[in-house]
Amino acid sequence: MNFHNLILLWVFLFFSEKLLVLIVATEETDGFHRFMQSASYFNYTVKVLGMKEAWKGGDVGRSIGGGQKVRLLKEAMVALADQEDLVVLSVDSYDLIFAGGPDEILRKFQQANHKVLFAAEGLIWPDKRLADKYPSIRSGKRYLNSGGIIGYAPYINRLVSQWNLHDNDDDQLFYTKIYLDPLQRQTLNMTLDHKCQIFQNLNGAVDEVLLKFGTGRVRVRNTVYDSLPVVVHGNGNTKMYLNYLANYVPNAWNYEHGCSHCDHDLLDLEMPNYVLVGVFIEQPTPFLPEFFQRILTLDYPKDKLKLFVHNNVVYHEKHIQKFWKENRNVFKSFKFVSCLSEATCDYYFSLDSDVMLINKHTLKLLIEQNSKLWSNFWGALSLDGYYARSEDYVDIVQRKRVGVWNIPFMAHVYLVKGSTLRNELKGRNCFVLEKLDPDMAFCRNAREMGVFMYITNRHDFGRLISTANYNISHYNNDLWQIFENPVDWKEKYIHQNYTRIFTENYTEEPCPDVFWFPVFTEEACDELVEEMEHYGSWSGGRHEDKRIAGGYETVPTDDIHMKQIGFDKEWLHFIREFISPVTLKVFSGYYTKGYAIMNFVVKYTPERQAYLRPHHDSSTFTINIALNNKNTDFQGGGCRFHRYNCSVDSPRKGWSFMHPGRLTHLHEGLPTTNGTRYIAVSFIDP
Ligand SMILES: *[C@@H]1O[C@H](CO)[C@@H](O)[C@H](O)[C@H]1NC(C)=O
Ligand SMILES: *[C@@H]1O[C@H](CO)[C@@H](O)[C@H](O)[C@H]1NC(C)=O
Ligand SMILES: *[C@@H]1O[C@H](CO)[C@@H](O)[C@H](O)[C@H]1NC(C)=O
Ligand SMILES: *[C@@H]1O[C@H](CO)[C@@H](O)[C@H](O)[C@H]1NC(C)=O
Ligand SMILES: *[C@@H]1O[C@H](CO)[C@@H](O)[C@H](O)[C@H]1NC(C)=O
Ligand SMILES: *[C@@H]1O[C@H](CO)[C@@H](O)[C@H](O)[C@H]1NC(C)=O
Ligand SMILES: *[C@@H]1O[C@H](CO)[C@@H](O)[C@H](O)[C@H]1NC(C)=O
Repeated sequence: MNFHNLILLWVFLFFSEKLLVLIVATEETDGFHRFMQSASYFNYTVKVLGMKEAWKGGDVGRSIGGGQKVRLLKEAMVALADQEDLVVLSVDSYDLIFAGGPDEILRKFQQANHKVLFAAEGLIWPDKRLADKYPSIRSGKRYLNSGGIIGYAPYINRLVSQWNLHDNDDDQLFYTKIYLDPLQRQTLNMTLDHKCQIFQNLNGAVDEVLLKFGTGRVRVRNTVYDSLPVVVHGNGNTKMYLNYLANYVPNAWNYEHGCSHCDHDLLDLEMPNYVLVGVFIEQPTPFLPEFFQRILTLDYPKDKLKLFVHNNVVYHEKHIQKFWKENRNVFKSFKFVSCLSEATCDYYFSLDSDVMLINKHTLKLLIEQNSKLWSNFWGALSLDGYYARSEDYVDIVQRKRVGVWNIPFMAHVYLVKGSTLRNELKGRNCFVLEKLDPDMAFCRNAREMGVFMYITNRHDFGRLISTANYNISHYNNDLWQIFENPVDWKEKYIHQNYTRIFTENYTEEPCPDVFWFPVFTEEACDELVEEMEHYGSWSGGRHEDKRIAGGYETVPTDDIHMKQIGFDKEWLHFIREFISPVTLKVFSGYYTKGYAIMNFVVKYTPERQAYLRPHHDSSTFTINIALNNKNTDFQGGGCRFHRYNCSVDSPRKGWSFMHPGRLTHLHEGLPTTNGTRYIAVSFIDP
């Protein structure tokens, strides 16, 4: 054999070594699937032992146990015992992922120059008294962890063939005792992976690791030993942290390509499933009628939806009754159906009343994504524990990182597979746990059962309503929400074509310097009139008026001031937000302060006061918004400007006039001949 051949032989030997991964898993948990995905990504050969066998190895998360794993490994090793070139890797699976491939493991194992290598950690378990017996080391992690073992098949066989204990005895204690026996340590040629070259246990080591983003792949870097571990293990209390790492490692998300698996595995929705929609109204919630309307506009067959409403708020009875009367036949059912017992409930969609879904495809998108638990809200959502502090939290909320994310807590809105409720979460009253609120309890139960929860920020789904400071002592309370929920306020109360004032020439000019533009919706007009009539104390149009400075009004109207119904702050805010920009547009160069003392609703009716004689207003400019419809609600009415011999006699509901107040625009209110006419008026910049 010449030198050349020798090299070839060596190369041949090196590459002929095969790596076989042996894992024990009795159930296909979410963690199991995640492990298998990372293994198949790197093309590992994996053999699963014990699947569907009853687990008798104890509650390893909380106490000792795991002997069943050694027993199964021992049985499997018998057939492999004489394969000298076979390297066996035995690892946990539910809480473990691969960050690198088989070649890297084999290379690092060669470099370790031992026949058997165990994972190491800084904490000793389960018997602290054994600490002294460990060989001393200069640096690195000192203690054995049995979640990761790699070695040549004959040696692994000699190791596990010593097992003669029970399934619920402790596997780690068993391996530790063998390792601590100096004779065995030498004959089996064993050592520990002290510096995390192959195995990274996260327990007690969370601060040592960082994500390392490369092109294509994401790894975990141990900053203390400057190593790139291949096997990452969320042992002990670090499951949530592993979930966080696995949102990236090995290739779930990176900066170049974003989410790699988001479009895999999408469910085909040709045959829509039954979804139980649970609506929870736990506190007075602004814009509830709009919330219900959004459920109606969900792009999902209504005969596949079953709706139940849990209402804790008397104030909302009227809204629910109204929705129910109008829509009870729209849905498959409209009451309570428990998803726990009904096999026809494929999904359960839990929706709190403060969730404003603006994406009508929400349900389809979540079901398509095909996981067990889904949620889709960020914004006001506070995540607990690790995630709140995780370095990616802000990036995910701000959608700088887009994808689907395994998270420890979700609230307000989520989708759960019916089968998950009936299987994994069965036997638990899953919304009840100690004193936790139902969402918290549900999430903790899911975590404890190893059910993964995901959040997606791939689409914009909606927003959360603020329920703080919702005063329900008015008649139409949403009118007051201009500060607390400005987006929803605008959507409900500001005219659909209002913004066209600024994009097109949408204002009209029926008389010189009298501008006419849309500003209020029908709802805004109706609710304001209702609010005034509910208050009811119309002034009667007398000259004596205690409400104003001086106590005397020369041209009195039959009116109620905004201040009288406690709406003055909100009204002034409305003027600044929605009227001032129009002023700047039509009277260019004039910057209004948006200040007004006289803000009121006027009522014209033949029975009381039908018209207003010609007058000037004490304002720089005046707005005058029609609150109801000519011909349907009243006859007559309108406004006449004397200087220009010009009248507008067909006011439009929701449209406002804007005209100079003093000097040029002497005007009068034309007689209302039948019915009742309402207008809202403000004298701006008096
Ligand atoms: C796994 O094997 C496939 C098919 O041979 C190959 O295309 C792929 O690159 C391999 N993956 C890795 C991470 O080596
Ligand atoms: C362990 O085995 C390697 C060869 O694989 C050998 O070089 C080394 O000396 C052995 N160590 C002990 C302590 O026997
Ligand atoms: C709610 O509104 C009523 C009526 O305007 C008012 O008297 C009351 O002070 C308000 N409550 C709060 C907490 O603002
Ligand atoms: C807004 O304008 C469009 C098109 O001009 C019209 O069809 C629609 O009815 C307007 N909306 C309202 C609320 O008047
Ligand atoms: C709006 O009307 C004015 C005056 O008629 C005209 O000068 C301007 O070009 C118009 N703007 C648009 C966007 O149509
Ligand atoms: C005012 O206009 C009307 C028609 O719109 C006309 O009949 C009347 O003569 C005008 N009055 C004056 C003073 O111009
Ligand atoms: C006045 O309005 C009422 C109801 O709105 C209607 O029945 C009646 O015909 C109207 N009268 C006149 C004279 O238009």
